Amino acid sequence: MLNMGLLPFYFLFLFLSISSGEISNQVGINYGQLGNNLPSPKESVKLIQSLGAKRVKIYDANPHILNALRDTNLQVSIMVPNQLITNISTNQKLADSWVESNVVPFYPKTKIRYLLVGNEVISSSPNETWYNIVPAMRKIKKALKTHRLHKIKVSTSMAMDVLESSFPPSNGTFRSDIAVPIVKPMLQFLNRTKSFYFLDVYTYFPWSTNPKNINLDYALFESQTIKYTDPASNLTYTNLFDQMVDAVVFAMKKLGYLDVRIWIAETGWPNAGDIDQIGANIYNAATYNRNVIKRLTAKPAIGTPARPGWVLPSFIFALYNENQKPGPGTERHFGLLYPNGSYLYGIDLSGETPDSDFEPLPKPDNNEPYKGKIWCVAARGVNASELASALSYACSQGNKTCDPIQPGKKCFKPDSLVWRASYAFSSYWSQLRNTGATCYFNGLATQTTKDPSFGHCKFPSVTL
Ligand SMILES: *[C@@H]1O[C@H](CO)[C@@H](O)[C@H](O)[C@H]1NC(C)=O
Ligand SMILES: *[C@@H]1O[C@H](CO)[C@@H](O)[C@H](O)[C@H]1NC(C)=O
Ligand SMILES: *[C@@H]1O[C@H](CO)[C@@H](O)[C@H](O)[C@H]1NC(C)=O
Ligand SMILES: *[C@@H]1O[C@H](CO)[C@@H](O)[C@H](O)[C@H]1NC(C)=O
Ligand SMILES: *[C@@H]1O[C@H](CO)[C@@H](O)[C@H](O)[C@H]1NC(C)=O
Ligand SMILES: *[C@@H]1O[C@H](CO)[C@@H](O)[C@H](O)[C@H]1NC(C)=O
Ligand SMILES: *[C@@H]1O[C@H](CO)[C@@H](O)[C@H](O)[C@H]1NC(C)=O
Ligand SMILES: *[C@@H]1O[C@H](CO)[C@@H](O)[C@H](O)[C@H]1NC(C)=O
Repeated sequence: MLNMGLLPFYFLFLFLSISSGEISNQVGINYGQLGNNLPSPKESVKLIQSLGAKRVKIYDANPHILNALRDTNLQVSIMVPNQLITNISTNQKLADSWVESNVVPFYPKTKIRYLLVGNEVISSSPNETWYNIVPAMRKIKKALKTHRLHKIKVSTSMAMDVLESSFPPSNGTFRSDIAVPIVKPMLQFLNRTKSFYFLDVYTYFPWSTNPKNINLDYALFESQTIKYTDPASNLTYTNLFDQMVDAVVFAMKKLGYLDVRIWIAETGWPNAGDIDQIGANIYNAATYNRNVIKRLTAKPAIGTPARPGWVLPSFIFALYNENQKPGPGTERHFGLLYPNGSYLYGIDLSGETPDSDFEPLPKPDNNEPYKGKIWCVAARGVNASELASALSYACSQGNKTCDPIQPGKKCFKPDSLVWRASYAFSSYWSQLRNTGATCYFNGLATQTTKDPSFGHCKFPSVTL
């Protein structure tokens, strides 16, 4: 593969038509549902079609959604939830009954084509579920066979953190704790069943944690000039996405699997985030998503430097901004649509609309890191009893977190729950941010650059 350029043209042609023969390069959408304000499944399916998506991936097997997808042309990917994996891995009957109740009633009118056993399971802290993924995949595959559902491929989704090294791409290596016990049998299963490696790949994360050394345009597919040649493979890269995908290609190769196909299970860019997060804005999100769609829908297929011409089928993340996702603000802002169904920016997943047809984008205002102080305060208009619980949780963390708001101390202000909660959140966050704590508290807290200190009471802050 690496010496493709040396092959006579007709070999190249033969190779391309074999590798891309049965799968189309159409782009799909991830339909996440972690919001309390999202449109109904029926309305969502209309929106998915209006976006030009040809495929949709859901994170469960929600029967309302599968019914809403009935008699549409959308190819569907469903998921066995992480919590069921362990039981299914040791119990063929359970696998059979899962398929019977979650696939059979909807198939073939709902075009279920992919069945993922768990979502980023190996990214969670080590636990027995890891070792049960592949046995569960085998049992689910067998259950599908019993029902003659041969068109449905079985896989699981994995993030980039399954690699211990991804740079240069030729150095891509699976983590040593999982390579032999988990990934190798998984690749064997995927190869044998002609399924796909489902990869979640976000250039946003490496760029935003290292914006000094990685060029933003390189992460957005915007650079015309930056070229990186991998010294070991001699392959030349023009964007970060290709580097990341090829790191997985090389890692698979090290385990002896040269041609398990990759499916981009998630990719995208956040349209907003917290004050302490860089580069999450509509301009970058639109730019990334339009560029990645153009690339993934190109005909003939472009592939990556290590796999030129290979089709990369894909799902963009995500349909909606989801207000109930935990973690930093970016997590709740990957949507192409607001929860009311309006577009955040012009986008066409079919790749057919030229950029010039879209409205101009708002200029990005956070492509440089914020410098200054930030406080974490109670959000407006939130539920008082929930705020009180969050306050006592925050006070229970860290050292002396809430001492200054105790009776007799200089920040004591018994009549204001919002004040006390804001103090507690700021104190908690300033102590624990370095260890990954976020200013979120299920939406009860928000970051501010406006100093909430009053009189003699100084609120702790995070200084960037
Ligand atoms: C193990 O990880 C899975 C998948 O993330 C999760 O659903 C499950 O609750 C975890 N089990 C334990 C015992 O932590
Ligand atoms: C798994 O099986 C055990 C034993 O039958 C049962 O107690 C448990 O509830 C099951 N777990 C799930 C998530 O269904
Ligand atoms: C390749 O990856 C290993 C870890 O797997 C790392 O120690 C090494 O520095 C990497 N090589 C290069 C050239 O970066
Ligand atoms: C890389 O390419 C250069 C120029 O095309 C060539 O001289 C060199 O031998 C190649 N190196 C390897 C490791 O293939
Ligand atoms: C992958 O599957 C093909 C058949 O489709 C087989 O020829 C090849 O040996 C398999 N690769 C490995 C590493 O098992
Ligand atoms: C949808 O929500 C967004 C964000 O809250 C808002 O800007 C937009 O005006 C809303 N659109 C409609 C049609 O209500
Ligand atoms: C506030 O939250 C509590 C606990 O979640 C709930 O029982 C209560 O109904 C909520 N109150 C209001 C006014 O929404
Ligand atoms: C709390 O104090 C202990 C002992 O001084 C220290 O080891 C620990 O890191 C402190 N924790 C925080 C969150 O500052």
